[in-house]
Amino acid sequence: MPRDFLDLAEWTSVDLQRLLRLAVELKSEWRDGGNRQLLAGLTLGMIFQKASLRTRVSFEVGMNHLGGHAIMLGEEEVGLGKRESVADVARVLSGMVQGIMARVYDHQDVVDLAAWASVPVINGLSDDRHPCQALSDMLTISEHFGRTEGLRLCYLGDGNNIAASLALACAHFGLDFTISSPEGYALDEEVLADAEKINPRTDICLQSDPDHAVAGADILYTDTWVSMGQEEEAAERRQVFRPWQLNAALLARAPSQAVVMHDLPAYRGKEITDEVADSERSLIFPQAANRLHAQKAILVDLMGTRGVV
Ligand code: CP
Ligand code: NVA
Repeated sequence: MPRDFLDLAEWTSVDLQRLLRLAVELKSEWRDGGNRQLLAGLTLGMIFQKASLRTRVSFEVGMNHLGGHAIMLGEEEVGLGKRESVADVARVLSGMVQGIMARVYDHQDVVDLAAWASVPVINGLSDDRHPCQALSDMLTISEHFGRTEGLRLCYLGDGNNIAASLALACAHFGLDFTISSPEGYALDEEVLADAEKINPRTDICLQSDPDHAVAGADILYTDTWVSMGQEEEAAERRQVFRPWQLNAALLARAPSQAVVMHDLPAYRGKEITDEVADSERSLIFPQAANRLHAQKAILVDLMGTRGVV
């Protein structure tokens, strides 16, 4: 059982399924008006090299619910790897906080933080992975369908951090995975190989034509075409990705039970239209709200005293 939450490839399906059950339990306690103070007196340090709404708020509110608190450490203050080395930041924070959550550009920075810290490190998004989002999405899917096994998630667009963590989450939770990306923007083959390794029964389908990709899908998922750090490529990307827009015409080609998901922020009129994002088939806001409950499960599991839960 690893101490850090950096990449779903490093976790076992059994442990991740346990985390999901914990998220369900914590959400139900919260709905009933009681939050056990499982992290009373503990502090989470949150390093952000990039902007955030959902990740920052869900971790901070989550720590408050659990009786602890979180400190926001912006890039200007910390200067991770610039003002101070990653190794020194990790060791200094380890003396004062009981957990570190970091949103970084270079995935190696969260790996190095974890290597040097003596407290758990959580990847709150790197250029390569967004494991917190993908775990949380499994909560949303299991609430909506009553299960995760046997469903098919179809991801449309950039083979980015979200696509990578979703592919791995699908393998862990028994979903089949279709991905449709423009040439040159495909998901790393290494990620698909990891997904195969996690669950050889997962059916992974690469489908270049988005119209064909959505056939047989239970979940249509998209993300921005321009991730944080890729702003200079925006014009070119918006041109290339246009046929992958999740709009009413594409949704009409999917089975009638298919729902729409997006990790947000959404660039409306680009990767998704208003009509689809705001349709009855869209789960995007319950999906965003679930970040809170999934994050709490990760925090309790990593920072809590074993045996309390
Ligand atoms: N989905 C997500 O991680 O949102 P933020 O970038 O706002 O944290
Ligand atoms: N792929 C997006 C996800 C934002 C939550 C990015 O990295 O900017």
